[in-house]
Amino acid sequence: MTTLIPIERIAAHVGERVTVRGWLQDSTPKGKLLFMRLRDGTGMTQAVAYRPELGDELFEQLKRLGQESSLIVSGTVKANDRAPGVPRGYEIAVEAAEVLQDAQDYPITPKDHGVEFLMDNRHLWLRSSRQWAIMRVRATVKRAIIDFLDGRGFVNIDTPIITPSAAEGTSTLFEVAYFEEKAYLAQTGQLYNEANIMALNKVYCFGPTFRAEKSKTRRHLAEFWMVEPEIAFCDLEELMRLEEEFVSAIVGRTLAERANELELLERDVTPLQNVVAPFPRISYDEAVQRVLAIREATDDPELRDELAIEWGDDFGSPHETELTKQFDRPVFVYGYPTQVKAFYMEPWPGRPEVCKSVDLLAPEGYGEIIGGSERMSDPDVLLAAIRRHELPEANYQWYIDLRRFGSVPHSGFGLGLERTVAWICGLEHIRMTSPFPRTLNRLTP
Ligand code: 4AD
Ligand code: MG
Repeated sequence: MTTLIPIERIAAHVGERVTVRGWLQDSTPKGKLLFMRLRDGTGMTQAVAYRPELGDELFEQLKRLGQESSLIVSGTVKANDRAPGVPRGYEIAVEAAEVLQDAQDYPITPKDHGVEFLMDNRHLWLRSSRQWAIMRVRATVKRAIIDFLDGRGFVNIDTPIITPSAAEGTSTLFEVAYFEEKAYLAQTGQLYNEANIMALNKVYCFGPTFRAEKSKTRRHLAEFWMVEPEIAFCDLEELMRLEEEFVSAIVGRTLAERANELELLERDVTPLQNVVAPFPRISYDEAVQRVLAIREATDDPELRDELAIEWGDDFGSPHETELTKQFDRPVFVYGYPTQVKAFYMEPWPGRPEVCKSVDLLAPEGYGEIIGGSERMSDPDVLLAAIRRHELPEANYQWYIDLRRFGSVPHSGFGLGLERTVAWICGLEHIRMTSPFPRTLNRLTP
């Protein structure tokens, strides 16, 4: 008798005969022994073949298998402190094996390949242990997002991907041919969610989002996933409380469920353990002062240049990076200048040049992971903003309607999935967080 198991459950089967179906990562012969590292998509473990047990023919066949050959292996699970794997410390003493395919000349070997080569082979690179770990973390982050919001009574609702007009600025729209008309891929579901909350009170959409950003930074994708909660009867202060609980829950759950993967990624989890609400809150005004103080204090001329800023400017990556280094957990920056934010943000009472926006910046230099705000609730103020931004008024009539029939204070935010995963995994580039990333210079595979 043998039980088919996923490798991730191997610890529960010590002393039992099991079967594992997977792929060969590599193997090392040592006399009569062959140490095979086997992965099955749920984990990795060492399978040890012993020539006298398997016979010469099968042993030789296994020994000659190339990297990524597919096979089925049965044997007894043993605990072994020194055995590598995820989870670590187990091995299978092979009693039977069946080769499905002997693969030869797998292009990705343990040596160093350039990242462009690896990205060209993304369909294969995904099998590598770091990429595997990142995708598992990504899935857990998604699950944590959904469970948190569902648990708080939010209704999950889907917003259109094909849209007639801009929401976050006209310069980053992807145009599509829509029969005889022009349409655009959605930059956000927010405007629709503002309609949805008037029907359902608290909602969120979670799906792909598109930005034709001509930026080649470590933080930008052309296609990414955003979760967008929107809440009726909610002001900026309540919004921040929701965001800090949300982000703490996501990080906490990932630490609890993906410890093996984070260890494999060599992520120092100490900074993540600090991610507990409440988070510090600073105004845009204070943030500018802090950036200028860092700029004064540095003797790195390049950094001085990068940190140049005047009141009214948006923060770039260098500003956010330096600012977040001053805090041991994510930091809220609220009250940005109206001119650098989207048209729909509620003006600050008594200070129309400032809006009730809030960005959440992740620590360790990661920067913005959430953008959000309280929304305009007055139809006339909104109409004036639409005109100021020279947006096509007719397309926004329905949006203004929301302020005509039972307008209420309301707020919402968008969290970028990939930026959040990059931060939690401690990655140097956002493209690693997407199985098949779309960037300014990559559309394949
Ligand atoms: O700050 P953004 O543009 O906000 C909105 O779109 C609002 N309508 C959201 C809302 O209030 N419902 O984007 C929100 C987040 C960013 O903080 C970032 O995490 C992510 O989406 N994001 C990107 N991630 C990867 N690549 C890009 N090009 C991104 N642009 C935004
Ligand atoms: Mg933003």
